[in-house]
Amino acid sequence: MSSLTPTFHARAERIHREHEVIEQTLADLELNLERMTTHPENGEPAGMVCRSGRELAKVLPPHCKREEEDLHDVVADVSPQLQEFTRLMKEQHQTLMARLNEFVAVLQTFESNPGAPGGREMLIQEGKSLVRDIRRHVATEETELKGFL
Ligand SMILES: [Fe+2]
Ligand SMILES: [Fe+2]
Repeated sequence: MSSLTPTFHARAERIHREHEVIEQTLADLELNLERMTTHPENGEPAGMVCRSGRELAKVLPPHCKREEEDLHDVVADVSPQLQEFTRLMKEQHQTLMARLNEFVAVLQTFESNPGAPGGREMLIQEGKSLVRDIRRHVATEETELKGFL
């Protein structure tokens, strides 16, 4: 987009790089959630799940804020379609943040009492569902905003 400034392009590229980091964290999280299922006797995957969950809780909120300011708010002016798309993405941010907070709460409960009935299953179930939804959100942004990133 030639009408957009070099500063915009640099910021958009940063968003793209952050997506790659988030995707990697999601892949690690998914792998260890799977290992928790297949190797229930091994405590290591659960520790890795908690680490990845905390990492996501650290990087996702500032990413979303930056993305809204540096990317969404700028491309929204390009067309009514992009305005609608970015509105939808911001709405999804709210939902994803709430889900992420819930996941961190589940994770903390599990860590404080790993043997509690159902805690382990809850962590796996919530984790897998969160991975799926964040991944879908990031993939949608990458596809729909490909020309900007
Ligand atoms: Fe986003
Ligand atoms: Fe994003």
